[in-house]
Amino acid sequence: MLIDIDQKFTFEDIIPIRDLIAETCGLHFDEKKYYFIEKRIAKRIKATNTQSAKDYFRLLKLGQNHDEMKELVASLTTNETYFFRYLPQLESFAEEALPMICSAKRAKNDYNLNIWSAGCSSGEEPYTLNILLREHLKDLSKWNIRILATDIDYQILKKAREGLYEKRAVKDVNPEILEKYFTQIGSRYQICQEIKTGVSFSYANLMDRREMRSINDMDFVFCRNVLIYFDDKARKQVVNSIYNCLLPGGFIFLGHSESVGKISATFKLVKFQKSLSYQK
Ligand SMILES: C[S@@+](CC[C@H](N)C(=O)[O-])C[C@H]1O[C@@H](n2cnc3c(N)ncnc32)[C@H](O)[C@@H]1O
Repeated sequence: MLIDIDQKFTFEDIIPIRDLIAETCGLHFDEKKYYFIEKRIAKRIKATNTQSAKDYFRLLKLGQNHDEMKELVASLTTNETYFFRYLPQLESFAEEALPMICSAKRAKNDYNLNIWSAGCSSGEEPYTLNILLREHLKDLSKWNIRILATDIDYQILKKAREGLYEKRAVKDVNPEILEKYFTQIGSRYQICQEIKTGVSFSYANLMDRREMRSINDMDFVFCRNVLIYFDDKARKQVVNSIYNCLLPGGFIFLGHSESVGKISATFKLVKFQKSLSYQK
């Protein structure tokens, strides 16, 4: 028997799956999102040929099928992003935080710079950071720079690696930068090779403590517009993991409506001229 994707499930069918998703990847869906999540679960039940919502829950829960959890999560993520998103914060990074970290490192003859875009979606954020480094670091060639970009949505990472964007994604890019770092192909924009090769994309779940322990020595972490979709418990866990990934003095940049204030007393709030950040 195949499940009809228009079939309605009961609250009792959906809630255990919803809670398992929150536990696994932090994404939290309240009652207002019930219809959205029900539709996506129904699609996956059909795609996996599972007989019922209870069987599908068991398939996910037994963990034998990690790929299925990946598929389900990829169908639930919000990937909204664009180049130079929230410019005041990026200016704080480029004009204040970056010079601060770099001059401290130059004094120690340490020319390693590690930046992590955590929840990078289709790549606009880490590519923007790479452009900013090229525009602002005068002694760029001396630095050994690593830009790590991770996401839980394996589908969106394919798009990120491709680096080809619709006009909408570059709407906030100034014309000079657009000309310098992109090639127009028909109605789309291809990020140039220099910017592309500087970013390394990989799959990582911010809620996976083991994966998080393998990421370290970061000078800057951008985790913007990711934690808004999480519940408080998951937010706290992720912020603590990110704290451990940072070098002393390193910064975390969150989305402009997000704050670590309520969830962690370990970071120091830093007020830059145009925005706020948190420092380890
Ligand atoms: C709205 S986008 C934000 C993109 C970019 N940071 C920005 O601000 O423009 C949120 C991204 O977080 C990712 N995400 C959600 N939960 C995650 C998790 N547990 N681990 C890693 N990435 C996650 C989603 O797949 C999505 O691509």
